[in-house]
Amino acid sequence: MRLALITGGVLAAAATIATCGAWAAGQTSSAAGSAPVPARLAEGKAVYDKWCAPCHTDSAGLAGTLALQTKYKGEKPAVLEHRTDLTPEIVNYYVRNGVAWMAPFRKTEVSDAQLAAIGEYLTAPLEDRGIGPARLAEIRAGGTGQ
Ligand code: HEC
Repeated sequence: MRLALITGGVLAAAATIATCGAWAAGQTSSAAGSAPVPARLAEGKAVYDKWCAPCHTDSAGLAGTLALQTKYKGEKPAVLEHRTDLTPEIVNYYVRNGVAWMAPFRKTEVSDAQLAAIGEYLTAPLEDRGIGPARLAEIRAGGTGQ
């Protein structure tokens, strides 16, 4: 009983911290070019951040982003999170089969449910993906294509 109370307290504290973190991220992010992600997409973004972001964000020199820059030559954004042409089926295909030096992901790494969440995240409206207003305008204008 006592343990349950303590656990409950810890969970409540953790939830408070998480909420503050989201709030803080939302507050600081507009300057950094990002915005909060709606709760329904949070899991997809978390899984994406863990497994896909290491190769697919807009930091310089990432394998996935560089390869897609070469592949599409600016016709499509090189950063997956900035694409509006992906479908859940396309995402599933590449994640389960791999391509070039992107290895296939096993279900023990990314489960079917998590993959569905990634698919939902990558096909959500751009403004729901945590991209800040300035960056959003840049992407829509065709800007750097990143
Ligand atoms: C080790 C680096 C790496 C990781 C990790 C990685 N990818 Fe990739 N990904 C690549 C590379 C490289 C390519 C492009 C290959 C090519 O066609 O030249 C690619 C291509 C893709 C494509 C095809 C896009 C297109 O239009 O051709 C999709 C979709 C994709 N990745 C999704 C994902 C998702 C979702 C994850 C996370 C589950 C992920 N990738 C993790 C390296 C990676």
